[in-house]
Amino acid sequence: MAESRAQFVTRLGVIATTVGSAVGLGNIWRFPYEAGVHGGGAFLLFYIVFIFLIGVPVICAEFIMGRGARSNIFGAFRKLHSTRQWAWIGYMGILSSILILSFYSVVAGWTVEYFVQSVTGAIDTIAEGERHSSFDTFSTGLKPVMWTLIFLLANAVILLRGVQSGIEKVSNILMPVLFLILIVFCINSLLMPGVGEGMRFLFNPDFSKVDSSVLIGALGQAFFSLSLGLGTMMTYASYFSDRTPLVKSASIIAVLDTVVAVLAGIIIFPAVFTYGSEPAAGPKLVFEVLPAIFHQMPGGVFWSALFFFLLMVASLTSTISMSEICIAFFTEQFGIGRRKATLLNAGIAMVLGTLCALSFGPLSNVLIFGQSFFGLFDYVTSNIFLPLGGMLISIFVGWFLDRRVFREQLRGTGSIKGWIYKVIVICLRYVAPTGIALVFLSGLDII
Ligand code: PFF
Repeated sequence: MAESRAQFVTRLGVIATTVGSAVGLGNIWRFPYEAGVHGGGAFLLFYIVFIFLIGVPVICAEFIMGRGARSNIFGAFRKLHSTRQWAWIGYMGILSSILILSFYSVVAGWTVEYFVQSVTGAIDTIAEGERHSSFDTFSTGLKPVMWTLIFLLANAVILLRGVQSGIEKVSNILMPVLFLILIVFCINSLLMPGVGEGMRFLFNPDFSKVDSSVLIGALGQAFFSLSLGLGTMMTYASYFSDRTPLVKSASIIAVLDTVVAVLAGIIIFPAVFTYGSEPAAGPKLVFEVLPAIFHQMPGGVFWSALFFFLLMVASLTSTISMSEICIAFFTEQFGIGRRKATLLNAGIAMVLGTLCALSFGPLSNVLIFGQSFFGLFDYVTSNIFLPLGGMLISIFVGWFLDRRVFREQLRGTGSIKGWIYKVIVICLRYVAPTGIALVFLSGLDII
């Protein structure tokens, strides 16, 4: 078991897989729409504060546990502490990963449709005034179910063939390409007439708009975007070599992830104001605004095909990471083979994903706590389970984990500056748990 876990030998492999997990639809689809719903600038400010004050230390905590135990999330708690109850956090992580995989695959399916429409040129024939209705017609029909299932199938096939040889190599090349394309689109958006209004919306915090929903939304987005609080980073760290520097890797992930989200915001909001779209349009925002951007660019169909292709790849590197939590858990805790574990994971996600895909159309009347399946899975995982998981992981690592494991893992085979070590300890013991608790309490209208 130990040898088969030591997968990522190169630094590039570590960065490509962890950044590949972090960068995805969360940055390009979810961040702009959450920022749009929550008023822009103030949301961005809190988001960045949460990423660096809470996110980076919690990534370190997951890394420490993952490499310290070299096990799946459930097994890691079991190995690192004699109290069995801690392992319940593992169940929450596994549940979260399946729920996220289900609704995430629906959005990934939308990107497949838009890729196909780009390749066939159909995307360019939609009239200016019909972009809203065009997305609505598509998303409320049955086609999204087909794309969701196809996407989940592709995800399973890649997982069956092994993460290393296929997707890891591909993403090493494609992630930098995605980055370059985002910069091209940014420049294009900065030349639009709505640039002033768009930039003001994104970067000018209006504190009068800050309420508990902005705080909860920003915290949830930070955890979602960093793939944090459910054991993804822990599972990946169980494949790290002893030489991987944990704090440095955590910081690189956070910086790159934030840069991609901000670039997406710079692309979307000038266009939102140029084309008179509604910033608070919700999950459909990006799918209505992006085609409008491509339409006015020279060679728009080419750019949109390339963009949606890269978005599909970025989604795959993320869904692979969330599936891997489950697969590691099934294989190690229940002793079933990788093949069976992968199919089990895909099967559950296909059933739940179908419910999510239908929740914009035929099942839109089925509401649980006032939310559709899609909305519920998204809200419960991002805004409750992941921050709660992150809070418990930071308490565990900060207060209950054997100090020697903590120190050894954080230092690795190199050294770590004393003040960095102290800052991480303080963040894990005090800042992250109280910060997350305060955001939760604000949601209950207690503070
Ligand atoms: N971080 C991914 C994104 O921003 O698209 C989403 C994600 C991946 C969430 C993996 C959770 C996870 F375990």
